[in-house]
Amino acid sequence: MYNFKFSIPTTIYFGKGQISHLDDLKQSGDKVLLVYGGGSIKKNGIYDQALKILEGAGISVTELAGVEPNPRIETVRKGVDLCKTNNLDMVLAIGGGSAIDCAKVVAAGAKYEGDAWDLVIHPEMIKAALPIYSVLTLSATGSEMDEFAVISDMTKNEKWGTGAECMKPTMSILDPSYTCSVSRKQTAAGTADMMSHTFENYFSFEEGADVQKRFAEGLLKTMIKYGPIALDDPNNYNARANLMWAATHAINGLISAGCSPAWCIHPMEHELSAFYDITHGQGLAILTPVWMKYVLNEKTAPVFADYGRNVWGLEGDDDMELSDAAIEKTADFFFKTMEIPKNLREVGITDQSNFEKMAEKAAAGSVGSFVPLTKEDIIEIYKAAF
Ligand code: NZQ
Ligand code: ZN
Repeated sequence: MYNFKFSIPTTIYFGKGQISHLDDLKQSGDKVLLVYGGGSIKKNGIYDQALKILEGAGISVTELAGVEPNPRIETVRKGVDLCKTNNLDMVLAIGGGSAIDCAKVVAAGAKYEGDAWDLVIHPEMIKAALPIYSVLTLSATGSEMDEFAVISDMTKNEKWGTGAECMKPTMSILDPSYTCSVSRKQTAAGTADMMSHTFENYFSFEEGADVQKRFAEGLLKTMIKYGPIALDDPNNYNARANLMWAATHAINGLISAGCSPAWCIHPMEHELSAFYDITHGQGLAILTPVWMKYVLNEKTAPVFADYGRNVWGLEGDDDMELSDAAIEKTADFFFKTMEIPKNLREVGITDQSNFEKMAEKAAAGSVGSFVPLTKEDIIEIYKAAF
């Protein structure tokens, strides 16, 4: 296990009715930018609840509405302008990862002289941010307790993750009942996303990080247990609660601290979203079993076999056989149990003309430390996923 620093400044209020703690925002001032998406928070009543509490606390609200799934830099720029023009004190995102990610880069952009896109492609330029608050409405990304944000410039087919310590939220409200209205499609995609974050941190050759590995396996088992329950019984509070808390821990540093995580599916998926604007979790689910098969060899088999044993309860001594079975379990879970589209054609990608460009960009970003991937490898993986 390597040396590490583990520090999460985010206060979490978890459970029903915790939105009442929105009056804590007073600690950061009295002018907030409220960031939200296409209107789900108005339909399920969270918007009205939040405004009432903010008004009661004497906090004035400026709104940035319409944040896109796969948030765009144009929307971030609008938010930065609103913060600067109105001299706002803080940002509050209410929504899924897209609203929170957008709010994070707005918060950093408000403290930066140049164009906010600089902060997306050069995370090291993020030196300060307005205080960031969130009310999470979709369990998936972990943005509620991590330092990352992913922003797209669709005019250039660019989608990049950025991050900085100062972009960790000051406070996040996690009320699982808010996620009961999440659609089947987004519930399945969200489950795939949180599983992928766990996989990215979990598959490695490192020995000695038992705490992190066993935490990761516990998270995966929880996601595998409760994803299907949430799909079939959307109002099941326990299922929603377990998914929400598991998603948060998959990417807040708990299971990656002291390890050197691989992170190779995400760079490949971000190119799919950048070129075709597909749903992040669906892209991850499609790529994951293909990637597992592609990198399976004598060296990686013991790692995948342990995943089969400890997560899926598979038994046997032949690591290669167990790995094959674990990969099949993973694919069946995504495509049969969670009903996620099983290949790129099913999410509307009809030709392979961009694969080379996409692979070049994915390989330039991060290639993964578990099994490093070249541009050629990534093209093969896209083709197999097609
Ligand atoms: O926009 P609204 O109307 O709110 O509707 C959203 C959106 O259409 C809807 N939704 C959210 N909560 C709902 C709801 N519908 C009904 N009831 C609710 N309670 O769901 C749709 C998807 O929302 P979005 O926020 O886009 O989903 P998600 O949370 O999956 O976020 C995806 C984005 O996060 C990035 C992804 O790349 C993608 O851009 N990621 C961020 C990460 C991070 N910050 O650490 C890591 C991830 O790997 C990921 O890359
Ligand atoms: Zn993700």
